[in-house]
Amino acid sequence: MSENTYPSVNDLTLEEKASLTSGGDAWHLQGVEAKGIPGYMITDGPHGLRKSNSATTGEVDLNNSVPATCFPPAAGLSSSWNPELIHQVGEAMAEECIQEKVAVILGPGVNIKRNPLGGRCFEYWSEDPYLAGHEAVGIVAGVQSKGVGTSLKHFAANNQETDRLRVSANISQRALREIYFPAFEHIVKTAQPWTIMCSYNRINGVHSAQNRWLLTDVLRDEWGYEGIVMSDWGADHDRVASLNAGLNLEMPPSYTDDQIVYAARDGRIQPEQLDRMAQGMVDLVNKTRSAMSIDDYHFDVDAHDEVAHQAAIESMVLLKNDDDILPVAANAKIAVIGEFARTPRYQGGGSSHITPTKMTSFLDTLAARGVDVAFAPGFTLDLEPADRTLEAEAVETAKNADVVLMFLGLPEAAESEGFDRETLDIPAKQVELLKAVAAENKNIVVVLSNGSVVSVAPWAGNAKGILESWLLGQAGGPALADVIFGKVSPSGKLAQTIPMNINDDPSMINWPGEEGHVDYGEGVFVGYRYYDTYDKAVDYPFGFGLSYATFAIDGVNVAKTGANTAHVTATVTNTSDVDAAETVQVYVAPGKAAVARPKHELKGFRKVFLKAGESAEITFDLDERAFAYWSEKFNDWHVEAGEYTVEVGTSSRDIAAVAVVTLDGDGKALPLDEWSTFGEWADDPVGSKIVASVYAEGEAGNLPQLPDNDMMRMFLKSMPINSMPMLMSDGGKAITAFMLDEYAKIAETAE
Ligand code: BGC
Repeated sequence: MSENTYPSVNDLTLEEKASLTSGGDAWHLQGVEAKGIPGYMITDGPHGLRKSNSATTGEVDLNNSVPATCFPPAAGLSSSWNPELIHQVGEAMAEECIQEKVAVILGPGVNIKRNPLGGRCFEYWSEDPYLAGHEAVGIVAGVQSKGVGTSLKHFAANNQETDRLRVSANISQRALREIYFPAFEHIVKTAQPWTIMCSYNRINGVHSAQNRWLLTDVLRDEWGYEGIVMSDWGADHDRVASLNAGLNLEMPPSYTDDQIVYAARDGRIQPEQLDRMAQGMVDLVNKTRSAMSIDDYHFDVDAHDEVAHQAAIESMVLLKNDDDILPVAANAKIAVIGEFARTPRYQGGGSSHITPTKMTSFLDTLAARGVDVAFAPGFTLDLEPADRTLEAEAVETAKNADVVLMFLGLPEAAESEGFDRETLDIPAKQVELLKAVAAENKNIVVVLSNGSVVSVAPWAGNAKGILESWLLGQAGGPALADVIFGKVSPSGKLAQTIPMNINDDPSMINWPGEEGHVDYGEGVFVGYRYYDTYDKAVDYPFGFGLSYATFAIDGVNVAKTGANTAHVTATVTNTSDVDAAETVQVYVAPGKAAVARPKHELKGFRKVFLKAGESAEITFDLDERAFAYWSEKFNDWHVEAGEYTVEVGTSSRDIAAVAVVTLDGDGKALPLDEWSTFGEWADDPVGSKIVASVYAEGEAGNLPQLPDNDMMRMFLKSMPINSMPMLMSDGGKAITAFMLDEYAKIAETAE
């Protein structure tokens, strides 16, 4: 065997195969030296490389890693709505992996932000699965285009940190298929991540690592996944059950490979299953081999910092801009208040914590650019009570400024992997300070730093401008300066609704669960799907974000391209004299449906950069899935025939134009039987004729007559036809028999 050729699983002994199914240490695969299989390094992600300095000993030290570019975490990047930019971030991360000889970077994480209090919302993408999938796919495709692997995580339903290692997320099949799976499904089908990491939690009682339905039936057999599945760190509680379910790799190792060997010998693991799991590991090593063979590679630190800078610019969402307070003139008399301006909060806590290659705060940037400002920290970055001296100094500093830039947000201790937040509010001392400053100076722009949504409504009246900057990564300072002083227009859009009050959130009644389980009682009505369907007030809707420019959308047209597909065209025009980007969003609103469906759902988006006065025509193709819901009756996707409204706009609540398309439907129907209700018979093309005959034969005296009035028709609607005797005794029996006979006759002639 040549040095560069890796063996097939057939060349390995049972012990060697077993050894491939667990790691070598916390951050390495287990190699098989005798057969030339190296034990490559795999490490975190997801918004940059976290290669622990203690990697060789296998220890977990969250804050001690080699320098790497810290890109904006998904909280920020998801607001960019720019898959190409996200792809560039992926490419840059891969180059850093190549330098550091890391074969797989552990990310992106595409779990749904079910509730804004979720501790990992900062590293997840959206409350909307279409957006999460179509953005995060850029990371996977970008990283893998350079020959480095990704690990799409955490499959599936890690939507909270409370009890995350044990909790059973009890979710309907429909909500799994429509909300919690599609981001994974889209990325698997379009970019084939080389690895997937399963979640810690249980789904409907079964730990993800041991869930054969999840890891094999759905992931591999339905979606065609070709890569390997690894456990989240410590999520494998039963080596044999997990391997049988479709888990290729236990991480970190529990040094129990002998369990696999014994189980393979005594038949608890079938030889083919072990071969399949081990071959996956050999294939993974093969895929990464060429990138891992590159020596002396050095990534371009400045170029990557520039990618992080651009990503940070596009991550910011301008929420409010009364009196055009932004952009600020550089020669204005500016007061900068808030410790975040000097000590930025630029990433989240936990396993994703990166040591940046550079770090430029907003204040550093202003100093470097020669912009003179007065600064006061105003508060400390902790959860301690207000410091009245700092507060008084800040009020004094802000008093006579033309503009006050107030940096507020969540300190590190308030949100992290490992725990959920308890409140949506920023610390009270910051709000008190804002109010005290506002009493002296009305020209306030609040710049927010937070990983997940915070409440804005309670204090918004004190600020003319609000710029949500999330966590911006290492180049946040220059990016903020570019946007605040108008070098570029903000272009971010909310990937998550900002509610008025956390108790408005549809998941609150089941958050974060109790006694080991959490019931996803809101079903598919997550985020805007709930707020918009039930017409609830929100502070800022999903998809919202202001610009320094203005735009118009017109010429919306929808043409049917197949029985259940359509093509959408629209024209977007920059109607201002500022160059800027707009994100056009397409939502599909079903007409009358057999099940409760959200009012509308995002099914397409396009970010368009337009010079002042410029227009562009944009197009979208809507596939069958864009119109479908997951039917538990058919255990499959289902498109009903009828009208669908295609909405084109700039947020879920700013729809510029709509067009209607009438679809044929997919024609799926279940055969009728005695348990089908009278209503179901009446709705079925064949059944409705038989129902008509029942009435006609009754009129003619050939069958007992069904009471025929509005009330009785309503009454019968939800009655299975085998209950007719309850209503009409022998007469009812005759009607049931007649219906079933007629149906059987028609079925016979159809055969
Ligand atoms: C996290 C993963 C991470 C892993 C390795 C786990 O606790 O849930 O996201 O990749 O640790 O650090």
